[in-house]
Amino acid sequence: MMIRMFKTTAIASVLSLALTAGAQAAEEVEVLHWWTSGGEAKALNVLKEDLESQGIAWKDMPIAGGGGTEAMTVLRSRVAAGNPPTAVQMLGFDIQDWAAEGATANLDELAGAEKWDEVVPAALQRFSKYDGHWVAAPVNVHSTNWVWANKKVMDELGVTEPPADWDGFIKFLDAAKAKGYTALAHGGQPWQDATIFDGVVLATGGADFYKKSMIDLDPEALGSDTMKTVFDRMKQLRGYVDENFSGRDWNLASAMVIESKAAAQIMGDWAKGEFLNAGKKPGEDFVCFRVPGTQGMVTFNSDQFVMFKVGEDKQAAQNAMAKAVMSPKFQSAFNVVKGSVPARTDVPNEAFDDCGKKGMADLAEAAKNDTLMGSMAHGHSAPAAVKNAMYDVITNHFNNEVSSADAVEQLVNAVEGAQ
Ligand code: BGC
Repeated sequence: MMIRMFKTTAIASVLSLALTAGAQAAEEVEVLHWWTSGGEAKALNVLKEDLESQGIAWKDMPIAGGGGTEAMTVLRSRVAAGNPPTAVQMLGFDIQDWAAEGATANLDELAGAEKWDEVVPAALQRFSKYDGHWVAAPVNVHSTNWVWANKKVMDELGVTEPPADWDGFIKFLDAAKAKGYTALAHGGQPWQDATIFDGVVLATGGADFYKKSMIDLDPEALGSDTMKTVFDRMKQLRGYVDENFSGRDWNLASAMVIESKAAAQIMGDWAKGEFLNAGKKPGEDFVCFRVPGTQGMVTFNSDQFVMFKVGEDKQAAQNAMAKAVMSPKFQSAFNVVKGSVPARTDVPNEAFDDCGKKGMADLAEAAKNDTLMGSMAHGHSAPAAVKNAMYDVITNHFNNEVSSADAVEQLVNAVEGAQ
């Protein structure tokens, strides 16, 4: 009896010790991200609440600025100080760069137990894994070759179908401009200029040209007449933005479409998050269509939470976060709000609106047809050094009196110099 009692007490105290240790370890995650717009914050809340329901507190580290450029700079100083955050929102090649530095955690055990290999598409695994080891949990798949148009404006212009090709798109923009609208809502920041560029390269040269120029970085493709046409078209688009576009945040450009001040915005599908957050409905208030001429093709980017090497006391919370991010239920709930589609192939599309369903179908079709390609603007076609070199040329051409021929030459040189 005594022995039994002793045993029970001992087991109970070991259990309670373990629980306390577990509770302490699973206490907090510090997360660096650039999800600062209304729609983004709402999506992020889905994750915060999920973790909070598990007793894990959220320490927020928001650094505004799309494409993650500013966020990576802040991260650099945290890592250099030996105090990295628990998890960092990150894109494509940046993940590989940080993993190569040895700064990332190893998630193989969790990934194995949860069978990530079987449900995450190879196009994403190529970035989530470094040297065969899982270092990141992919949250979503976004894509950049989308147009978000105001339905009321389209109706007023008598446009019943999305434009099918570049000429049709220009006709649509001309008609909007003639009616006094800002035809193209745009924010003049390098990553936004580059986002438009993704779509224009694809619309102008097709999937093969995109691959050769943006992924293979083939000097011939970069210096070609097709690329000259790409720059001509960028200048053409420049003619449809309003005079206050310089420096404007992307979500403020979305707001111009939402408020019927502008006809359309070329932007990744995170823009849908802003429309939804403003209470707008796809098909009724806004229309989503692929950048005309890029139907059947997808330039994607995937936000992944890269887990950093943290002390043992923080690892349980880190693992819990990675596990939560990868749960099918979370992937549905989060992406419905964010505007993206799940990073897992086994999530049903029922909860998604028509744009989300189209996004999922387009992704599957493009993967099958080999027309699914990493977005240059969002770090999935080339490493940061090359991406930033391209940003400079694109933005300089968009804003200044630079001929397309000169821009092409600059692009070839910039890419060569950055490798
Ligand atoms: C990210 C999106 C984000 C967008 C604008 C992109 O690089 O992948 O998740 O919403 O930037 O902030």
